[in-house]
Amino acid sequence: MVKQKQAKTVVVTSGKGGVGKTTSTAALGAALARDGHSVAVVDFDIGLRNLDLMMGAERRVIYDLINVIQGSANLSQALIRDKRLDNLYLLPASQTRDKNALTEKGVAQVMNELRKKFDWVICDSPAGIERGAVLAMKHADIAIIIANPEISSVRDSDRIIGLLDAKTERAKNGREVDKHLLITRFDTTRAGTGEMLEIDDVSDILSVPLLGVVPESKEVLSASNLGVPVTLCDANSAPARAYIDAARRLCGEDIPIVLPEEKRGFFAQWFGGKAA
Ligand SMILES: Nc1ncnc2c1ncn2[C@@H]1O[C@H](COP(=O)(O)OP(=O)(O)O)[C@@H](O)[C@H]1O
Ligand SMILES: [Mg+2]
Repeated sequence: MVKQKQAKTVVVTSGKGGVGKTTSTAALGAALARDGHSVAVVDFDIGLRNLDLMMGAERRVIYDLINVIQGSANLSQALIRDKRLDNLYLLPASQTRDKNALTEKGVAQVMNELRKKFDWVICDSPAGIERGAVLAMKHADIAIIIANPEISSVRDSDRIIGLLDAKTERAKNGREVDKHLLITRFDTTRAGTGEMLEIDDVSDILSVPLLGVVPESKEVLSASNLGVPVTLCDANSAPARAYIDAARRLCGEDIPIVLPEEKRGFFAQWFGGKAA
C-alpha cells in the first residue's frame, strides 16, 4: 500500500492585487518540486484563473476546483501533472463568475484529500480580504505573506495578518498559522533613492520574519510569458535564486538572506539572525 502523505498546507496571500502572489506560488511550488518534494499548487482565484497560465497548463485544463467541489469530477481527474516535473501538479480555478460555488464544506473536503496525496499543498489566494481570500487561507498551516516595499501593500498585508489570526482553522483551535514574509518586486534602483520602504522596516511593521527578497526583474515577465515558473526557466537568474532559497528556508534550511544586488555604493547587505 502506498504510504499516505500528510502535506504541509501553505497559503500565498497579500490583500493587495498585483504584488506577485501567483508568480510566487508557481515559483515556490516548482522550486520545492525541483528539490524532490511532491507538490500541488491550487488556484483559489475563481473567475480570474491565472496560475494555469503561469504554469503553462492553460490548454490542458478540463476540470477544475469547482468541478471537484460539485462532484462532477474527482480530484485525480482535475489535477494536471506538470510537463517538466512529474511530482508537480496544478489544481486549476474555474472561470465561473459564481464565486459562491466555492463552499466552505467543499474546500475542506478537497484540502483534506490533497493533504493525503502530497508533501506540500500551496494555495494561490485571490486579492482582497473577502470570502475567497478567507477560504484560501482557511486550512493553511503556513502563510506566505507577499508584500511589495510600499505603504499600500504593507497596510493590506497587515489586514491579511489579522484574518490569519482570526479566521483560519488553526486560529479556531488556538494555534497560530506559521507566518512568513516574502518581499517581491524589490527594485534596487528605487531602493537607493528612498522611494521604497526599507526591507527590515517592512518586516518590523508586520512583525513577521522574512522568508526572502525577490528583485523586480524582467526574467519574471519573460518566464510568465513562456508559461514557465521562473525557478524552472533560468534557475540561475536573480529572482529564481531568491525563490529557490526561500523554498529551502521554508523547509527549515538556514540560508542567510542577501539583498538583490545593491546600487547604493556598497555590496549586498546581510541581514543578521535567523531568516525565518
Ligand atoms: N519580481 C518580479 N519582477 C517583475 N515583475 C513581477 C515580479 N513579480 C511579479 N511580477 C509581475 O507583476 C504582475 C502581477 O503578478 P502576479 O503574480 O499576477 O500578482 P498577484 O497574483 O498578486 O496579483 C505580473 O505581470 C508579474 O509578471
Ligand atoms: Mg494572482
